Amino acid sequence: MNLQEKIEDLRKRTMSDLRAVADEKTLNNLRTVMLGKKGELTEILKGMKDLTNEERPVIGALANAFRDEFGVKFEAKKVEIEEALMNAALESETLDVTLPGDVQKKGSRHILTQTQEEIEEIFLGMGYEIVDGYEVETDHYNFERMNLPKDHPARDMQDTFYITNEVLLRTHTSPMQARTMDAHDFSKGGLRMIAPGRVYRRDTDDATHSHQFHQIEGLVVDKNITMADLKGTLDLVMKKMFGQDRELRWRPSYFPFTEPSVEVDISCFKCGGKGCNVCKHTGWIEILGAGMVHPNVLEMSGLDASVYSGFAFGLGQERIAMLRYGINDIRGFYQGDVRFLEQFGK
Ligand code: PHE
Repeated sequence: MNLQEKIEDLRKRTMSDLRAVADEKTLNNLRTVMLGKKGELTEILKGMKDLTNEERPVIGALANAFRDEFGVKFEAKKVEIEEALMNAALESETLDVTLPGDVQKKGSRHILTQTQEEIEEIFLGMGYEIVDGYEVETDHYNFERMNLPKDHPARDMQDTFYITNEVLLRTHTSPMQARTMDAHDFSKGGLRMIAPGRVYRRDTDDATHSHQFHQIEGLVVDKNITMADLKGTLDLVMKKMFGQDRELRWRPSYFPFTEPSVEVDISCFKCGGKGCNVCKHTGWIEILGAGMVHPNVLEMSGLDASVYSGFAFGLGQERIAMLRYGINDIRGFYQGDVRFLEQFGK
């Protein structure tokens, strides 16, 4: 076989090998076998030096044409293999966007938080400020400044957890009355605040009692504040919370820090007053304690009780939520049972 035939033979074999190649590795091998240092074409070209001057350009042109052809077909094959790979990947990784996704459980705000925020919203709209208090309080603010001196019998109703003789877990949010009055600059105008937060009592936990619960204290102190202001304010708030048809009933009561003191009932929002299980067949639901700030409480904050007057009230957050949503066990608020909590997810 002369050199010309050898090149022709190599060309035929190579082209048919190239057609059969199906993966990149074999393709690259083929190039090494052909053009590598010890490649077949390389070997042939080495033999060129033994050719005559007439033969050399002919064989050279032949070899170059073959190398060029191989280069073009090699690149085309490479593209073909890459496209096949890409198509296979697309095929196997197809996403069915109509399949149902993994459902993500969303958390929600606790129903007590929702209730608190709703009440805060109402009072913010009336120009009240919202203040935070201390769950760990002093005897001084929790009792003495609320007109409950050391031996006062009404302390028994609010027995609590003592840390020392003088430091305790607050039994109500009322100490925030004294604290905000102390801090307020009355030369710049009156005080309007609500103070939500957690309170503690020595109680045995059952469906309606808990040793810790939440209140919202309210206090307005200014010149010429009267009981009519208290009535108007609570009337508006209760109607916003429980419906425009609600009526309020005011009963005389006793708190050491208010005089006069009242307990306020609302007409039953379920039966409208006819009597049902929610209002225990009385037509009325007890909803909060309130009253005119006792002169002693004003004076202890350095205010002249003949110039300043005020009203205060205390709302139970759990009680409001229980009434509104028909919750009959207070412990549900604290147990963190998702089946309870998710009913109120917003
Ligand atoms: N602090 C009282 C209680 O916990 C409620 C209250 C607040 C009453 C303000 C009158 C005025 O029972």
